[in-house]
Amino acid sequence: MSTVHILEHPLLQHKLTYLRDKNTGVNLFRELVGEIAMLMCYEATRNLPTEEIEVETPMAVAKCRVLAGKKLAIVPILRAGLGMVDGMINLIPSAKVGHIGLYRDPQTHCPVEYYCKMPPDISERTIIVVDPMLATGGSASAAIQFLKGYGCKNISLMNIIAAPEGVARIQNDHPDVEIFVAAVDEKLNENAYIIPGLGDAGDRIFGTK
Ligand code: PRP
Ligand code: URA
Repeated sequence: MSTVHILEHPLLQHKLTYLRDKNTGVNLFRELVGEIAMLMCYEATRNLPTEEIEVETPMAVAKCRVLAGKKLAIVPILRAGLGMVDGMINLIPSAKVGHIGLYRDPQTHCPVEYYCKMPPDISERTIIVVDPMLATGGSASAAIQFLKGYGCKNISLMNIIAAPEGVARIQNDHPDVEIFVAAVDEKLNENAYIIPGLGDAGDRIFGTK
């Protein structure tokens, strides 16, 4: 079964509190999503392999470490996942970004795909799929399945808030995928929204409601 990492860093939890607040406006909401994504990215990349190189300082030769192994790709699930990309790119400027567009059908709550554009070497990259919300898990599971169809093997999932139902769905459908979240909330409501959650992440990032 896939591991769920609940990231409890005080800075992250502090920012998450203001993200949840219904009185937080669009500008601050967007800023907080970016900052949270950056802090989460720091934790989610903790085990990336490194290799030793030598660097000449002004004083002597120093044995230092740099990232090694496969290159990274960030795959945001549109729309809301887009809000997490810039914060992560700030930390890993060499990462490529693949986009997958999915929306939830309001009646069935099932994901509907409308867009996809991946870097050509996506199957050789270590991938972090990002979306602020993991509710039923349908969108994330479909995105991961899609990437596996491209031959991707090393995939992690990063969500700011998850519902227990979404975590269980990913663990069942994709036991090989590690999950990084800042919180696992209580439940889903009858419309498959996370309770207490933060409302509709896409609408709050882009000001569409
Ligand atoms: C939201 C969210 C996830 C999905 C989560 O997107 O950003 O992609 O719902 O729900 P699930 O786990 O039940 O699939 P939404 O469909 O509202 O689209 P948007 O990002 O364009 O607002
Ligand atoms: N999508 C959101 O944006 N919020 C939820 O609570 C569930 C799905």
